Amino acid sequence: MVVEQMLREVAKIPETDLSAGRLFRFAHRGASGRAPENTLMAVEKALALGADGIEIDVYAVEDELVVIHDPRLERTTNGRGRVMASSLAYLRSLDAGQGQRIPFLREVLDLVDRRAAVNVELKGPGTAGPAAALVQRYVKERGWHFEDVILSSFSRRELAVARDEAPRIPLGLLTRSPLLPAKRFQAEMNLFSIHIRLDRVSRRFTDAAHRRGLKVFVYTVNREEDFRAVEDMGVDGVFTDFPMSVKG
Ligand code: G3P
Ligand code: CA
Repeated sequence: MVVEQMLREVAKIPETDLSAGRLFRFAHRGASGRAPENTLMAVEKALALGADGIEIDVYAVEDELVVIHDPRLERTTNGRGRVMASSLAYLRSLDAGQGQRIPFLREVLDLVDRRAAVNVELKGPGTAGPAAALVQRYVKERGWHFEDVILSSFSRRELAVARDEAPRIPLGLLTRSPLLPAKRFQAEMNLFSIHIRLDRVSRRFTDAAHRRGLKVFVYTVNREEDFRAVEDMGVDGVFTDFPMSVKG
């Protein structure tokens, strides 16, 4: 099933439908419970496990978007220092686990090749413009659809840049708060979804978001009881380190 259809299916889920197996499954940092996070190996594993979507994190370095979660290198690579203060050559020389290199966003898109949706979390400043331009290029030249990608961020500034650069790419607002964003911001951004932490989501939040026309995606859901709990709240999808552990 093409990813655009899958996203439409999410949109069709009735708010009252609590049936199991309807959650949209984003592999969090790739299938990061099974392979080094944010690597092509983790993306490949997620695709093999049948994830509906792949979530990855990006920073802008020189003329590339590099895929890595932390602002520093120490936790996930054998390097040292800040990602954004490093040269691309240095970043590419590092081991991101099991011999994997830190990938570029374009390499992730090439590997996914529309077999799953891609949620690009805009972590670093200055990522929205290049990400929007890259998606537009893949739409124009490689048969991708705008709906194959969701750009998300905690940074409203990055979301605003993305909206200006490429109005047709779905945008998701990341939040740690149980409060919905202002209606005016939602309308200005034409927000597609809200991405909320597991310990902040509730049935009440989900219902309110749905009434406002927002999809609700919850991070990070790894335990069976948590899958059941968010299903019961009627959420639309989850970010999980273990895509296989989701029913359906
Ligand atoms: O995008 C959902 C989730 O990935 C946000 O938290 O810290 O894992 O990037 P984090
Ligand atoms: Ca993330």
